[in-house]
Amino acid sequence: MPKLKAKRRPSKEPATPYKRKKTAKDEADRSISKSKNKKTVPAQKRSASFTWFMKVYKGLNDWHLPIFEAVNEYTQAKQVLYPGCDKHLTASLIFHNVVYVDLNKKLEPVFKDPLVLEWINKNKKYSDEARLKFVCKSFESNFENTCSFDLMISACAGIVSTPCSKFLKVGGHFLVSDMHFDARTTFVRTDYRLVGLFDSDTNKLETSPEKLKGHFTTTSGSPITKRQVEESINKPKNRRSFTLQKEENFYLFKKIK
Ligand SMILES: C[S@@+](CC[C@H](N)C(=O)[O-])C[C@H]1O[C@@H](n2cnc3c(N)ncnc32)[C@H](O)[C@@H]1O
Repeated sequence: MPKLKAKRRPSKEPATPYKRKKTAKDEADRSISKSKNKKTVPAQKRSASFTWFMKVYKGLNDWHLPIFEAVNEYTQAKQVLYPGCDKHLTASLIFHNVVYVDLNKKLEPVFKDPLVLEWINKNKKYSDEARLKFVCKSFESNFENTCSFDLMISACAGIVSTPCSKFLKVGGHFLVSDMHFDARTTFVRTDYRLVGLFDSDTNKLETSPEKLKGHFTTTSGSPITKRQVEESINKPKNRRSFTLQKEENFYLFKKIK
């Protein structure tokens, strides 16, 4: 598979993945999988799941893929947890072993769909068979053993860090978006250290202190406080008492205790 290159994600965007026009490649990906499965797969159900998955996450054009790739390279994560995943199975193109958690029962058929699984195995970036599991439960429940994962992903699914940090090993990493303020919620915790950010201009994971400078820091030069995180959650940007110097979509933290 060639090096994945995604379009730049807009800095302010809705919580649901953005819509893009279909490309010839999307159609090609779809028809290849369809024809391969013609003999063994009842077309309707699986096609519906596969189409839904492709429509929302755009196959190889998923803009998250460069982020996942960079984080995989940096962390070398073996066991990955993705709470509030929706049908974001493209994570399995990059990460070999992923546990997906979502309370939406409608997602179950997508995770079982042979067409979807075949597409993942055909396009994945690693040599072994993809290992993935879907847990249809709230991420607020005790769905796994504690300290089981070395990477956790939180993307536009509310505050995942509070209920799910116990599942992450000490020394593990947390890839977290700030769209629902989960990154800033993590920043004010004492058991995590900020180690990186994904620069949406250069499409690179930046880890140097110079690049991290100004993030989670107010224009008055102070690190964001718990009270300001609460304020972020409860008030729109234009009514807050503070402004951050710099903001990105995705940050990487290390669990230090
Ligand atoms: C906006 S979608 C984001 C999906 C995906 N992470 C992404 O970035 O494209 C939020 C998902 O979180 C799930 N979700 C919200 N609260 C949840 C909870 N308490 N437990 C499990 N899943 C939850 C929803 O069902 C939904 O699929």
